[in-house]
Amino acid sequence: MLIIALGAHMLAAIVWVGGMFFAHLILRPAMTSMPDAERLALRGRLLPRFFAWVWAAIIVLFITGYGVLYFGYEGLAGAGLHIRLMEGIGLIMMLLFGWMYFRPFKSFMRAFKEGDSSQAAAEFDRIRGVVLVNLVLGVIVSVLGATGNFWG
Ligand code: HEM
Repeated sequence: MLIIALGAHMLAAIVWVGGMFFAHLILRPAMTSMPDAERLALRGRLLPRFFAWVWAAIIVLFITGYGVLYFGYEGLAGAGLHIRLMEGIGLIMMLLFGWMYFRPFKSFMRAFKEGDSSQAAAEFDRIRGVVLVNLVLGVIVSVLGATGNFWG
C-alpha cells in the first residue's frame, strides 16, 4: 500500500511540476509570434484543463504525502529534514495555487468570456507569476523528495 501511495505521489508531482515546466519553458516561447486574440483564446481553453489536473494532483499529493508520513514514518517525529521541508514548501505551493485559482484565474476567465482582452492579459500576468514561483518551488521539493533519504 505504501509503495502504491509513493508511486501515486511521484506521478502527481510529475503532472504538476512537468505541466508548469511545459507551460513556462516550451508553450510560452512558442506562442510569442501568435496574434494576441489567438493567444488569449488558446489560454482560455488550456488553463481550465491544466488547472483541473493540478487540483487532482494536489489532492493526490496531500493524501499520499500524509499517508506515507503517518503510516510509513509514524508522523513528523520520525521523518527526516527533507520531509519536513517538503511538507512546508508543498503546503505553500498549494496555498499559492488556491489563491491564484480563486482570484486571478477566476477574473481571467470572466474577462475572457466578456471579451475584455486587456483585463484578461493583466490577470494572466499574475497567473504566470504564481506559476513561475510554484515551478521553482516544485523543482526544489521534487529534488528534496527524491534525494532526501541520502542526506535528510
Ligand atoms: C503536503 C505536503 C507533502 C507531504 C506531507 C509529502 C510527503 C512525502 C513523503 C513522506 C515522501 C517519502 C520520502 C522518503 O521516503 O524519503 C515524499 C516523497 C516525494 N515527494 Fe512529497 N510530500 C508533500 C508534497 C509534495 C509536493 C508538493 C511535491 C512536488 C510537487 C512532492 C514530491 C515528492 C517526490 C518527487 C518524492 C520522491 C518520490 C520517490 O522517490 O519515489 N511532495 N513526500
